[in-house]
Amino acid sequence: MASVQQRRIEIISRQITGSPTAGQGPLVQGRDCAAPSPRLLDGQVAIITGSGQGLGAAAAKLFAQQGARVLVTDLDGAKAEQVAEEIRRDGGEAAALAGDVTAEEFPARCVKAAVDSFGTIDILVNNAGFTWDGVIHKITPKQWDAMLAVHCTAPFRLIQAAAPVMREAAKRELDEGGVARSRCIINVSSTSGTHGNAGQANYSTAKAGVIGLTKTVAREWGGFNIRCNVVTYGYIATRLTSDKDSGASISVGGQQVKLGIPGGEAMAAAAAEMMIPLKRIGTPDEAAGAMLMLASPYAAFITGQSLEVTGGANI
Ligand SMILES: NC(=O)c1ccc[n+]([C@@H]2O[C@H](COP(=O)([O-])OP(=O)(O)OC[C@H]3O[C@@H](n4cnc5c(N)ncnc54)[C@H](O)[C@@H]3O)[C@@H](O)[C@H]2O)c1
Repeated sequence: MASVQQRRIEIISRQITGSPTAGQGPLVQGRDCAAPSPRLLDGQVAIITGSGQGLGAAAAKLFAQQGARVLVTDLDGAKAEQVAEEIRRDGGEAAALAGDVTAEEFPARCVKAAVDSFGTIDILVNNAGFTWDGVIHKITPKQWDAMLAVHCTAPFRLIQAAAPVMREAAKRELDEGGVARSRCIINVSSTSGTHGNAGQANYSTAKAGVIGLTKTVAREWGGFNIRCNVVTYGYIATRLTSDKDSGASISVGGQQVKLGIPGGEAMAAAAAEMMIPLKRIGTPDEAAGAMLMLASPYAAFITGQSLEVTGGANI
């Protein structure tokens, strides 16, 4: 009789290579090339916060292309609905949910929406966020609290709210059959969190905090086959790195906070030339690719890791 360990490994290699049944060719070993390859996230359900635009929207579309059913959720409900609609138009499955990840009631509502729409949660991506920059001697208490709320407290509360669906389901599977399905959490951080950034004491602190959260979840939930990793992005071309004078803003407690960086794309291009070995900033699709890699069966033995996706900056 196969040991639990052996059964676990068999299940993971089936996920990577495709079912060993006739006509379903392996994806990695290169045998049976003519057979249809399974998609990387077939049958999985993903929540992606802040997926109305930017990195989150790119991830929602990519995950859906790879077979996931996606709950697209964003502060901006119209944008979330638009992304979900695009996914459905392209033949994928998606539902939209409007909401502020920092709201007291949001985590329970978000988990319920995913379960009501798709029955479970296999992948949770904590991506929603923004910047509210200031130099240390000028950062207000509200500015400080807003960053910790969106980048640390919200991911923690969502992970906690997902526990009955992710952790408890895995526990039941272990109790019943000895093997828990692969599930994962991906948090989104920044090189500001790993290296610091002048003008971003609040954001850097919060983005460092979510790395500690990631490693703790990885340790606590690893026994349930729930992996937790964090992606620390460098410059990616989104609203967050566009020109601060472009007019983009976000409302925080009734106050409009301007988004972007001074100088926008020109500034980013100059920084890229000097600091990024690949000599350019990244695209949302490239950022989403890193999330897909971590969510895929190819990352079945990767947990608790902080992956820098920067074009090589800071090496
Ligand atoms: N773009 C970059 O260069 C970069 C670099 C490092 C990290 N990040 C991180 O990536 C994540 C996504 O950023 P982006 O660049 O795609 O920005 P973006 O502004 O293009 O998209 C962020 C999305 O998050 C949503 N959002 C913000 N606050 C929210 C809240 N309280 N509740 C619900 N939704 C909320 C916004 O409405 C928006 O749709 C953020 O956590 C950001 O800090 C971005």
